[in-house]
Amino acid sequence: MSLQTSRAQPHESALGHVTGDARYIDDIPAPANTLHVAVGSTDSICGQISRCDLAAVRTAPGVIDVVTAEDVPGKLDIGAVYPGDPLLADGRVEYARQPVFAVAATSLRLAQQAVKLANIDLIEERAQLSSAAAIDAGDFVLPTRTWRHDEGIETEATTSIDGTLTIRGQEHFYLEGQAALAIVEEHGALRVHSSTQHPDDIQHQVADVLGLSMHNVRVVTRRMGGGFGGKETQAAPVACLAALFAQRTGHPVKYRMPRHDDMVMTGKRHDFDASYRVSCDEDGLLTNVEMELAGKCGFSPDLSEGIVDRAMFHAMNGYYTPKAEITGYRCRTNTVSHTAFRGFGGPQGMIAIEAAMDELAFATGIDPLTLRLRNLYAPGRDTTPYGQKVEQHMLADLMSQLAKNCRYTERQAEARAFNTESTNLKKGLALTPVQFGISFTATHLNQAGALLNVFRDGSVEINHAGTEMGQGLFTKVAQVVSRSLGLPLTKIVLGATQTDKVPNGSPTAASSGSDLNGMAALDACNQLKSRLVSFARNDLGWSKDQELVFANGIVSCGTQSLPFDELIKAAYLARVQLSVAGFYKTPDIHFDKEAGKGSPFFYYANGAAASEVMIDTMTGEYRLLRTDILHDVGESLNPAVDLGQIEGGFIQGLGWLTTEELLWDDAGRLISNSPANYKIPTADNCPEQFNVDFFNAPNPRPTIYRSKAVGEPPLMLAISAWCALRDAACAAGNYKSLPGLSAPATPEQVYWAAQQAMTQGEQR
Ligand code: MTE
Ligand code: MOS
Repeated sequence: MSLQTSRAQPHESALGHVTGDARYIDDIPAPANTLHVAVGSTDSICGQISRCDLAAVRTAPGVIDVVTAEDVPGKLDIGAVYPGDPLLADGRVEYARQPVFAVAATSLRLAQQAVKLANIDLIEERAQLSSAAAIDAGDFVLPTRTWRHDEGIETEATTSIDGTLTIRGQEHFYLEGQAALAIVEEHGALRVHSSTQHPDDIQHQVADVLGLSMHNVRVVTRRMGGGFGGKETQAAPVACLAALFAQRTGHPVKYRMPRHDDMVMTGKRHDFDASYRVSCDEDGLLTNVEMELAGKCGFSPDLSEGIVDRAMFHAMNGYYTPKAEITGYRCRTNTVSHTAFRGFGGPQGMIAIEAAMDELAFATGIDPLTLRLRNLYAPGRDTTPYGQKVEQHMLADLMSQLAKNCRYTERQAEARAFNTESTNLKKGLALTPVQFGISFTATHLNQAGALLNVFRDGSVEINHAGTEMGQGLFTKVAQVVSRSLGLPLTKIVLGATQTDKVPNGSPTAASSGSDLNGMAALDACNQLKSRLVSFARNDLGWSKDQELVFANGIVSCGTQSLPFDELIKAAYLARVQLSVAGFYKTPDIHFDKEAGKGSPFFYYANGAAASEVMIDTMTGEYRLLRTDILHDVGESLNPAVDLGQIEGGFIQGLGWLTTEELLWDDAGRLISNSPANYKIPTADNCPEQFNVDFFNAPNPRPTIYRSKAVGEPPLMLAISAWCALRDAACAAGNYKSLPGLSAPATPEQVYWAAQQAMTQGEQR
């Protein structure tokens, strides 16, 4: 593949990540007398707390302080959007291992030992553990929404399929667990180092919990060792508890969750139960889609409003239907509250329609790729069920190009030939698209600020409120500044994200980090440049008729020129302000959530993947033989980083749909609670052949240098592997029936799917 070398810069911390020079929270040298936090809970699942005896905890070795809900001086509830998330259990326990109290001790080990000494009793109640039970009970964390769409086109449906799909959640498994370090500064103010995607939320939550104003709390985030959505809201309790102990004791306080606690106590990707009825006419064109999507939200709303909405938004992926009815349930269960995870509900909606498309293809006898291509949005068939018009129709070209490049049709025929010869080993193929809407669907979040400081030696610091979690945002924003000011990257330093440098920041999420912060940084650069232009024209007498050009560290205008640093020095002496605040808000987006109508997305990011698998029908074991990806990143800001995002996103999606199986026992306790019993993909699970290419087309929307967001969309390319596994299972029964398959398609599930195909194949 061709990387545009000038832009394909390595990640700004690539070297630091491997040498240890890049600091995570736990690498910050701990100040003297730092205390360590552990959180205590009960083994029971839910009910009223009848006894909470912490006497032994308080007197345990090393313990300096113990807190329960009653010790919170300000607000106890840290719900991000809606209330419902008490920092510590407020008289009731709603799920297994809900934090009831917390301990600060002189070492992490002593804190962990102390929390085991509590005696907590519950008046136990029956736990509601499934979405189905919640629907039966009509018990939801937020009201159900149904979006209806009807273009009044009556075509006769000749084929209908009804189906259901169980979609499991996913553990984030960021390599750096949740962590925060809180330090008391003067006059009761706090500085909190937090591994968070949303420093502004930490600032606001810590202030509320401690009864302070936001201006007394400063949050600093240099980087996360991965976030993946799991540090949008889930970082808050960690930071709040550290801050609470810091305020009470005056000590610096660190709370770094051990992996096991992190897996058990923090929210994950939502499980979804999908059921659908999809109809098409004799050409295979969709006539009507009815879909119900039930998200297992856990005990509180957290971000489930937006997550279930996004499942609904993506329930048609890139396909047009003149008629649709899409319902989203937000089911309350006595489990940890589920949260953002790369794709934010979108992947769950998307896999449901992709499963349905395969079922429709099977029922009509139309080839799955042909059926998909026929149903893509196209001019005149371009309105989504939520009313937004799809303006850029690239998927048909993109998918056809991918199919051609990877010899999809020929390989499909080869696989079929192989399958007639082979008894136990079967091959499967699938090519699936992704069309993912870019913008926060909560419109107000689509804003960003930047602070550009130019020092008088000509070196530059850029700050913004976006956070770096490995995705390369800082690298991209530095490149924007470098390109705009014509400076080498070595002249530009990235400030850690700090709430007092750029306030009121949105979470770094919805893949919009570089779209928003890149534009805010560019705005700051443009303002700086216009100040320098006036200065050069008015004070240096440079031509007013010619443009100033900023390139290669030199500013020139016709025959006149100065090195950037000399121009800056002169501007400083002439008292030109060299610190600039930039700002950006995404134009043209709006959405009415209740009506389900509007234009929530600034644009769509597209892509497609073709995957080929081989399964062993005797064991269910499988291998991913080959994956080809063609992905739309607009005009890439950084092809090296984008390639990493596409590969990484695909593999993370592959983990979700194949090896990562969240298991809960009958009482509702997570039993896949460690790396030993929860399998994330490794190098061994990568496709044996893995080809990734960019579909080069500048974004028609005026985004930062015509690029497109890339953080989340590639995750959904992994749906191709899931569909290919199902195709291989179908081959086991000689293509006589398409078996059901749940997600993840673990070897066990693939085995049962193949068995089902074989038995149904015999019965026909
Ligand atoms: N890539 C890495 N390496 N680590 C991460 O935690 N998070 C993903 C994605 N890519 C993540 C990542 C998620 S969930 C999102 S929303 C985007 O990055 C956020 O960053 P961006 O908006 O700057 O793309
Ligand atoms: Mo990403 S799930 O939007 O943090």
